[in-house]
Amino acid sequence: MHKIRVNLETNGYDIVVGRGTVSGLSALIEPLMKPSRALVVTNPTVNKLHGETVRQALRPLGCDVATENVPDGEQYKNMQTVESLLERMALARLDRASLVVSLGGGVVGDIAGFAAAIFMRGISYVHVPTTLLAQVDSSIGGKVGVDHPLAKNLVGAFHHPILVCIDSAFLASLPGIHLRNGMAEVIKYGIIADEGLFSVIERNMQSLNTTDSGLLEDVIRRCCQIKARIVQQDPRETSGLRSILNYGHTVGHAVESVDGFTRFTHGEAISIGMAAAAKIARILRMPAEEVEKRQESALSAAGLPTRLMGVETRPIIEAMRLDKKAVGGKLRFVLPLSIGRVVVKDGVPIEAVEEAIEELKTH
Ligand SMILES: NC(=O)c1ccc[n+]([C@@H]2O[C@H](COP(=O)([O-])OP(=O)(O)OC[C@H]3O[C@@H](n4cnc5c(N)ncnc54)[C@H](O)[C@@H]3O)[C@@H](O)[C@H]2O)c1
Ligand SMILES: [Zn+2]
Repeated sequence: MHKIRVNLETNGYDIVVGRGTVSGLSALIEPLMKPSRALVVTNPTVNKLHGETVRQALRPLGCDVATENVPDGEQYKNMQTVESLLERMALARLDRASLVVSLGGGVVGDIAGFAAAIFMRGISYVHVPTTLLAQVDSSIGGKVGVDHPLAKNLVGAFHHPILVCIDSAFLASLPGIHLRNGMAEVIKYGIIADEGLFSVIERNMQSLNTTDSGLLEDVIRRCCQIKARIVQQDPRETSGLRSILNYGHTVGHAVESVDGFTRFTHGEAISIGMAAAAKIARILRMPAEEVEKRQESALSAAGLPTRLMGVETRPIIEAMRLDKKAVGGKLRFVLPLSIGRVVVKDGVPIEAVEEAIEELKTH
């Protein structure tokens, strides 16, 4: 078991990573608080698979442990679900000394964390992430919230958990499509911050695709260390440092929104976005050829796409201009310098982006 500390001005917290960590959940919570009640927030899919394991693990706390399900799916990550959850929290007589335990992927984590952020002006919560994406990304950083008909993740708060408990054993039941989804973010961490991690991924993609390897656990830990380090340097996303986490996301988000969030998973879209970013860097005469090649082989080995067929270029550019990450209508890109190093570049010329997207459409 590994502990990674996220140091914040107030309320820092530990991320605990390993196989079987969840069995020690009560012992990890006890030094932090003695909850009046605990509420496990999950969805029917995850509850059926892992709910009982977590409820058992919470039993030594000696408090009442209840469970509430939210419906499964991004389409339910909205205010209506939060409102109904808040009502059930009130009916379950949760108070300021109660604890919410989110058990699930990023959708459950974002909803449960947001409900915890606003219930009685904020109560404590613990993340127990069960998808690869949630283990390496969404459970760390304190961003919680829901979608709005006008934009994804438009409504939310910064509310940090008191603990993140990552048990890689949960991944055994995760369907391949969701494993690949998280793998795109894993590869992203290698490119933005850790050449050593990238080499490990490059050499071992085969065994990383089997979730019982100790190697995957190790890779998850390294990703968490990177995100924790970046988050603690820029806890509320004000200094711009956190924006390197958006590598591949400028084109990725545009691709997702143009296709109406149906054709590609988020991981697939950012895989295409990372391919685009490396091309833009090369077109701008940055020394990105090696990154482009190695990145492409790693993404392909993970079963992720690096080409974009049957899509017009114009709507993608327009979607990027509307993105909340565009600054004053100018395009901002995170571009690779070498494996493990990226730079944030403002005012990237549209022509370079167009050229890169055109290249994505060729074999
Ligand atoms: N808060 C943040 O900083 C942050 C960062 C990145 C992404 N996100 C959000 O995360 C969400 C995506 O999260 P996700 O990719 O985890 O998707 P998800 O939560 O929808 O989970 C994917 C599917 O896997 C199922 N599942 C979860 N764990 C399982 C397991 N162990 N075994 C079998 N099935 C399991 C879920 O029920 C769901 O059907 C998006 O809403 C995104 O906006 C948030
Ligand atoms: Zn992402």
